Amino acid sequence: KKIVTIVGARPQFIKAAVVSRALREKYHEILVHTGQHYDYNMSEVFFEEMDIPKPDYNLGISGGTHGKMTGEMLIAIEDVLIKEKPDAVLLYGDTNSTLAGALAAVKLHIPVIHVEAGNRLGTKDNPEEINRILTDHVSSLHLCCTESAKEFLHKEGIVDSVKVVGDPMYDAFVYYSKKVGDEQPETLKDLDEKDIIIPDNFYYMTCHREENAGNDKTLTEILEAMNSLPYPTIYPVHPRNRERAYQIVKQNNFNNVLLCNPVGYLMSVYLVNHCEKIVTDSGGLQREAFFAEKQCVTVFDYIVWPETMIDNRNQLAKPDKNDILNKLEKKQSINENHAFGDGFSYNKIIDEIDKLLNA
Ligand code: UD1
Ligand code: UDP
Repeated sequence: KKIVTIVGARPQFIKAAVVSRALREKYHEILVHTGQHYDYNMSEVFFEEMDIPKPDYNLGISGGTHGKMTGEMLIAIEDVLIKEKPDAVLLYGDTNSTLAGALAAVKLHIPVIHVEAGNRLGTKDNPEEINRILTDHVSSLHLCCTESAKEFLHKEGIVDSVKVVGDPMYDAFVYYSKKVGDEQPETLKDLDEKDIIIPDNFYYMTCHREENAGNDKTLTEILEAMNSLPYPTIYPVHPRNRERAYQIVKQNNFNNVLLCNPVGYLMSVYLVNHCEKIVTDSGGLQREAFFAEKQCVTVFDYIVWPETMIDNRNQLAKPDKNDILNKLEKKQSINENHAFGDGFSYNKIIDEIDKLLNA
């Protein structure tokens, strides 16, 4: 049977890397890259490092407003689905590529399989929340990473098609942490492509959400907090706020913040495993902090992954210097407690796909 998988953004490449490998043992997979992320270090590096098969289609759609991007993807994905006539469409997470894939498929009566279904913040102000809700409400199979995601779907009346399978991000993290070990996988490059030597002790930060990185005030607060910590901060910058971060660091002499270009997945895994603490607004990185048992401060108004919040292991902070510093100081106890599966969620994902397609 044939499955069309649709990916477009960095976190989706990582999840697809582990699932595709298992999927291709049983199914004919057609991989569609919408083009949403397109820089070498936002896209191709993941395909190379993680042995993701070359996409069968690259739609080359990126940037613009949410409506324009999603609309163009919808049109282009529909063409692919009409041509390929798959038995199902496989989608990950909550990006505009996810929503476009879901809408294109359901209108053609093709079953939608949603991996990372069910997460809810409880606000429609967040663009990813809209993508999650709409995708879930047209999906035929809801594969949740956690129990809390299942509960959210149950509250929305989605019950029979919901399965908790674990988190493919955890699968990838376990597998690649072993592979990377203590060997630094690549040279860290600053924004001028000069080499950065990784200090013995450092914090790892990522920050790319519009709310934080989209204006000078909030990004300055966050960077000021990081600059005042006892060790340097390594901050690989998403291309959307590269220029802003560069200017703020330069103008304020935040020399304790080491800005660098986005790193490959192996390097990111290395940084997670070797840093002191993590400050982020990324859904992926806050989970990876939890997997690696590192303290995390998430600069965001909403809890995305409730299971990570136990024992202050992950705390929310405002984009405010004092709040971030206070949260980083707050005592937290690490008590291994895995709510994200056993590192082999891809096996359960394939089992559930088998049940759906062979029923
Ligand atoms: C998207 C996801 C977000 C996820 C993030 C992962 C949506 C609505 N949001 O946000 O959930 O956390 O990906 O990283 O889909 N750009 C480049 N080069 C690239 C990619 C992007 O220059 O390779 C620039 C483009 O100018 C683009 C801007 O970054 O307009 C924002 O990219 P976009 O894909 O719209 O959103 P993300 O912030 O990446
Ligand atoms: N990541 C990476 N290089 C970077 C920053 C992040 O490989 O420079 C990885 C990291 O593993 C993270 C994942 O990309 O979990 C997805 O992160 P992103 O913040 O882009 O997306 P989100 O998880 O917020 O949707």
